[in-house]
Order: sequence, then C-alpha cells, then structure tokens
Amino acid sequence: MRSLLFVPADGGKKLDKALASGADAVIVDLEDSVAPERKAAARDIAASFLRDAINSATRPRLLVRVNGLQTGLTDADLDAVVPARPDAILLPKAEGSASIIHAHAKLTAREAIHGLDDGHVKIIAIATETAAALFVAGSYAGSSQRLSGLTWGAEDLSADLGAEANRDTDGNFLDPYRLARALCLAGAAAARVDAIDTVYVDFRNDAGLRRECEDARRDGFTGKMAIHPAQVAAINDVFTPTPQALATARAIVAAFAAAPGAGTIGINGVMYDRPHLARAMRLLKQAEEQQD
Ligand code: COA
Ligand code: MG
Repeated sequence: MRSLLFVPADGGKKLDKALASGADAVIVDLEDSVAPERKAAARDIAASFLRDAINSATRPRLLVRVNGLQTGLTDADLDAVVPARPDAILLPKAEGSASIIHAHAKLTAREAIHGLDDGHVKIIAIATETAAALFVAGSYAGSSQRLSGLTWGAEDLSADLGAEANRDTDGNFLDPYRLARALCLAGAAAARVDAIDTVYVDFRNDAGLRRECEDARRDGFTGKMAIHPAQVAAINDVFTPTPQALATARAIVAAFAAAPGAGTIGINGVMYDRPHLARAMRLLKQAEEQQD
C-alpha cells in the first residue's frame, strides 16, 4: 500500500470522496478525529460505510483506526466494525508485541463469532505514540501473523514527552521524532512488515509533501498516510517504483541467477553484491504487491 487516506468516521460526504480518491487504502478514523460524545455514532457510520463499500470490485483496502487499548473503547469499536469485515485495523498507541498479541486475541474472538476466517483482519500498528512505545519498537517480530505494517506518529508522542513542538522553525522534525521515525523503520524491517510514513499535516504544501515522500522512500518506507485527497497522487507517484528502477532490479536478479555462487557481479560497469540482490528482490516484491 502506497497511500493510506484518513477520513473521520463522521465525515459525511468525505467518506465517499475518500473511496474515489485513488488511495490504496482508506482509514476510517474512530480515534482522534472523533469527539468522545460522537464515538458511538461514529462506530455505526463506520460499519455501514464498510458494508456499502466492501463488495465493490474496485474498492481500496478498507481500514479502521480503532481507539487504543488503554482507552477502554477498543472492544466496542471492534464489536461494531469486525462484522463489517474490514481488511485491517490501525492500532494507535501500540506498545510493542504485547499490544499486538492483545489486539490479535480480541480479533480472533470476534472473527469466530461473526464467521470471518481466522486472521482475516490484519493489524497495522502506530508504534511510536508514547515514550514507552519507543523502548519496545524492536519487539514486534513474531507477535502475530496479522501484523502487516508499522507506522509512526509525532503528535501524541510530543504530548507524552511534554514538548512544545515536534518540528523546528524550518519544518524539520526534531530529534525525538527523528528517533521515532528511525525506530519505526527498524522495527518494521526486524518484523518483516511494511514501514509506512506518518502524515504530512500541511496539506496545501505540495512541495513539502513530495520532499517528505522522497525522503521516506529513500530510507525504506513503502508508503505514507494522507489526511487529504489532494495528497494521494503525489504519494502514489513517489512510492511507485519507476520502470528504470524495476529494470535495474530485474537485471541484478537475472545476473545473480546466471552466476550461481557469485558474491559480486558487474552490470554496465557497476558492481553489485548480495545486499544489492536483497534490495532488488524486495523492490520487485513490493511492485508485485502493488499490482494486487
Ligand atoms: N477524505 C475525503 N475527503 C476529504 C478529506 C479526507 N480526508 N479531506 C477533505 N476532503 C474533501 C472535503 O470534504 C472537500 O470536499 P468538497 O469539495 O466536496 O467540499 C474537498 O475534499 C476539499 O477539502 P478542503 O476544503 O480542502 O479541506 P477541508 O477544510 O474540508 O478539510 C481537514 C480539512 C483537515 C479537516 C480534512 O482534510 C480532514 O478531515 N482530514 C482527515 C483528518 C483525520 O482523519 N485526522 C486523523 C488522522 S491524523
Ligand atoms: Mg493520535
């Protein structure tokens, strides 16, 4: 998934706009964008939106951001949305493998009750929203087959740290958030799941968004979350491997296949070794998944 567009569950016509936005996934939000007194209504809206959208052949992936396990609201969220068969939940304020195992068990029970296949609902975790979460970002491997991605967030983390800001005056993330971003990337790689970059909130700043997407792709993220439909095209563009990158990757894989046992190969005067092969295979796999 390259682009994952947030839409508040009580967002009215925004829900339909999100479906038509070209995003690879729509994340219906029950958490921060919904006021406490609107949670119950938002659950009903989210469920009926999923039921309407789920059978469309051209639909994006349908995700629901539930409320965090610490809130006491997660069970009611899952009771409302699991019967409507979301592809995944986005779990905010996750704190390592213990949170994933906990959410996994809640999903397993509801899948059984509502007749979904065991493991149908995947989990993407927001892995850096509390200070404690940073210290367990390396613990996600093996926590659940459901876990398919990690992402990160700077807003809740800055609140937990008591910080006044998370970006400097030039708009660059400050050290604690650079650390959170790097831990998300390393935690995802260690768990063999996708790393998805956080939102870019300045939604009229196209150049800033594109730069952040390019930095994220360079560092190993495979996609980025969006808050506005106008952000989707740039995200899809940057996270779609170019024909040139794919051609190079195929050439590297073919050259190693033709030289079994070789540690290094040369193509057009450039040396490639085993890490290049691993990177090429990863890019081809990512491109294949984008076709699905
Ligand atoms: N999904 C779908 N449609 C959206 C959208 C979204 N996330 N954000 C905006 N739109 C729609 C608007 O409804 C509007 O539709 P219209 O032209 O038919 O009136 C159009 O896109 C243009 O919107 P615009 O006027 O530029 O923005 P806005 O002031 O209506 O909305 C936000 C700005 C930030 C409130 C809105 O983008 C939003 O709700 N984003 C998601 C917030 C969220 O989920 N946050 C939680 C995760 S951090
Ligand atoms: Mg939040």
